[in-house]
Amino acid sequence: MINIIKVNNEQQFNETGAGIIASLVQTNPRVKLGLATGSTPVGVYQRLIELYKEGVVSFKLASSYNLDEYIGLPEDHPESYRRFMNEKLFNHIDMPLENTHVPSGNSSNAQQAADEYNRLLDEAGQVDLQLLGLGHNGHIGFNEPDEDLQGQTHIVTLDERTRQANARFFDSIDDVPTHAITMGIGSILKAKQILLMAKGKDKAEIVAKALKGPITTKCPASFLQTHPNVVVILDQEAGSLV
Ligand code: GLP
Repeated sequence: MINIIKVNNEQQFNETGAGIIASLVQTNPRVKLGLATGSTPVGVYQRLIELYKEGVVSFKLASSYNLDEYIGLPEDHPESYRRFMNEKLFNHIDMPLENTHVPSGNSSNAQQAADEYNRLLDEAGQVDLQLLGLGHNGHIGFNEPDEDLQGQTHIVTLDERTRQANARFFDSIDDVPTHAITMGIGSILKAKQILLMAKGKDKAEIVAKALKGPITTKCPASFLQTHPNVVVILDQEAGSLV
């Protein structure tokens, strides 16, 4: 079931997303959160930091599992997703760093790193909430459109459009990694609840395809239609076609 919430501005967007996550943490301090990178959740993380500083929530007993990581960037590279998460969230809240998990993109054996992450997810069991952004081509995590999709954590070759979209964060497109490790669609859909967030008119078309179009591997996010509990937060522009 998909429940769409349309908000009117950036502040509502971030507050609504953070509010859903914060209430889960309040009701279940041992909550397991599936987290995402990209520009979309940054304001949500900022709001969660504020709520923590105001004493509204504590993440002391919570744990997190991130969706994906570039292959070949050192952990302290400004664009590695580990560093992104540390800087945008983990360094500012009380979740113990050892409870935060991001696939290891800098291991000498990427396949082994993907397998290890899978084991970790299996041990963790079901995450309570998986936060997702949405790629312009319908990717979630780094599950790119393809003839078939993989269920578990695996290595992906990044789509040229994805590399171009993410080039804004690097000095040049040549610096954008060509491969990544990502949770598979099966792992994502295993979450108890999914929170998909998208904003801006450049996302309107893919939001409509993902939520109302046919379920197809050519739009990985369309598989969210098969999940029993999906909440989607959209601004007016991203939600203009649904
Ligand atoms: C990246 C991430 C995704 C993210 C997507 C959208 O490539 N791997 O997890 O959802 O792109 O990014 P943005 O939120 O910046 O539009």
